[in-house]
Amino acid sequence: MKFFVDTGDIAEIKDLASTGLLDGVTTNPTLIAQSGKNFLKLIAEICEVVQGPVSAEVAATDYATMLKEGQKLAKIAKNVAVKVPLTPDGLKVCKALSDNGTQVNVTLCFSAAQALLAAKAGATFISPFVGRLDDVGQDGMLLIKEIMDIYTAYPKTIKTEVLVASIRHPIHLIAAAKMGAHVATIPPKVIRQLYAHPLTDKGLAAFVSDWQKTGQTILDAA
Ligand code: G3P
Repeated sequence: MKFFVDTGDIAEIKDLASTGLLDGVTTNPTLIAQSGKNFLKLIAEICEVVQGPVSAEVAATDYATMLKEGQKLAKIAKNVAVKVPLTPDGLKVCKALSDNGTQVNVTLCFSAAQALLAAKAGATFISPFVGRLDDVGQDGMLLIKEIMDIYTAYPKTIKTEVLVASIRHPIHLIAAAKMGAHVATIPPKVIRQLYAHPLTDKGLAAFVSDWQKTGQTILDAA
């Protein structure tokens, strides 16, 4: 499973990239606003730090302007994935850009029918928002299961990858991985939670303490 980080914070991206576990980055207008940075410059900077896909979202909602914005964003770097909303115009832009070899991430997906349309429009990634579905009393992970069932039923024709978005906690991620979802975009805070277990901390403290009792060092040993 590929791990993308869902943030516009370049310091976080650099830190997480240094782990060697980061496969890509997703941003959205909210995250760009939170960064306080110039959008185009920030995307260029992120694309230098991370080799994998970096999602940059269009701002317009009409076909002609979205297409121009998408073409401009795609020119920033080879690894830009243009993010478009799941609307009729958004999917037209998806088709036009993907036909020209640009990676496209279709965002704001909340139903299996929408995911099927995005696949037919040639999306590289479909982004179903699991946390926001949970927030309104629907089962976000059930949507991932439905999309995976549909996409895997057509292995020869559907190449779109399921990019699980709006992840709020590690349980979302583990459930998505068990379903074979291709990608998860994860907030930095949740990535850090993945490392944590109190028994790891407790066990390590005991090992460090017991090792000190031996009076030995590994590096000075003959
Ligand atoms: O970037 C899209 C998605 O991951 C947003 O998540 O937490 O704002 O619902 P959230």
